[in-house]
Amino acid sequence: MGVLEGKVAIVTGSGRGIGREIALMFAREGAKVVVNDLGAEVDGEGAAQNIADEVAAEIKGAGGEAVASYDSVATVEGGEAIFKTAVDTFGGLDILVNNAGILRDRTIFKMTEAEWDAVIAVHLKGHYCCTVPFARYIKETNRRGCRIINFSSGSGLRGNFGQSNYGAAKAGVAGFSRVLALELKKFGCTVNVISPAAATRMTIPLAEARGRTVDPSDIARGPQQIAPAVTWLASEKAQEVTGQIFGVARGNISILQQPVAIKTYHSKTLWTLDELDRAMPNLVQAKREHDAAVKEHSGPRPLED
Ligand SMILES: NC(=O)c1ccc[n+]([C@@H]2O[C@H](COP(=O)([O-])OP(=O)(O)OC[C@H]3O[C@@H](n4cnc5c(N)ncnc54)[C@H](O)[C@@H]3O)[C@@H](O)[C@H]2O)c1
Repeated sequence: MGVLEGKVAIVTGSGRGIGREIALMFAREGAKVVVNDLGAEVDGEGAAQNIADEVAAEIKGAGGEAVASYDSVATVEGGEAIFKTAVDTFGGLDILVNNAGILRDRTIFKMTEAEWDAVIAVHLKGHYCCTVPFARYIKETNRRGCRIINFSSGSGLRGNFGQSNYGAAKAGVAGFSRVLALELKKFGCTVNVISPAAATRMTIPLAEARGRTVDPSDIARGPQQIAPAVTWLASEKAQEVTGQIFGVARGNISILQQPVAIKTYHSKTLWTLDELDRAMPNLVQAKREHDAAVKEHSGPRPLED
């Protein structure tokens, strides 16, 4: 029996790339899957129904259960329609993977309002649009053991040149998820975040522009390496894991640190600028030492270690 037997899942943007691999693995593990994909270009333009249809057909061809959905995650109506597809087709919903995404890279010097808005709409608002109907359903029906798995990025968590729109959206996804984890805890629902790296149509051109060759069929590089971690987080084994960010890339799985105070000074009076001349360099030095210690201990190691 698969670890997701009897569960109903939505995977947004699952017509291609990482989402497709998640949808296929969920189905192999027994989930009934809503394969949602607008069928857009990398920049979010255009639409094509065959992208979701093909993955749904592949799942059904292998004996699984799936339905295609072509609605955009970027509108409230789209989010509601995707949710309704799950409930109308499979009678409920247990797992939401907010994976759909686009890119419109540009430095801040040239970024247009349209490029900013499009990326925020698909990534950050898209997470909101798909999560709202599910969260309300969890509360109204007291459905237990549900899972939300959101997609952030190193761009949002560490920064990446030329991606201020995408970085802002992906940092927003981390903040959104921390709050959701608190709000859904009493319903036994977990909310976690994946920060992936995988060779897909989204990243292959960027790697090639930097002179790197990438092979999406390489199991340590391709989108298939992300699916097992997402499947585990969606399973009952992950019941006590919530509010976390996992890095999944190049065969590595990591748990990421999240903003916490590293060093703190206290003053009973208003801080003077002279005092800050002394405090601030010490704080920055504490951060440097913390970063160095983390770097020393966080590198990849075999599981037996
Ligand atoms: N590939 C990586 O290395 C990487 C790194 C960091 C984060 N991510 C994130 O992982 C997720 C998956 O990325 P990928 O590399 O598989 O990309 P991809 O381009 O291969 O797949 C994304 C899918 O989302 C769909 N989509 C776009 N807009 C949509 C919308 N409005 N509604 C519904 N579907 C829509 C596209 O049609 C596409 O099939 C994204 O959120 C991305 O930002 C990927």
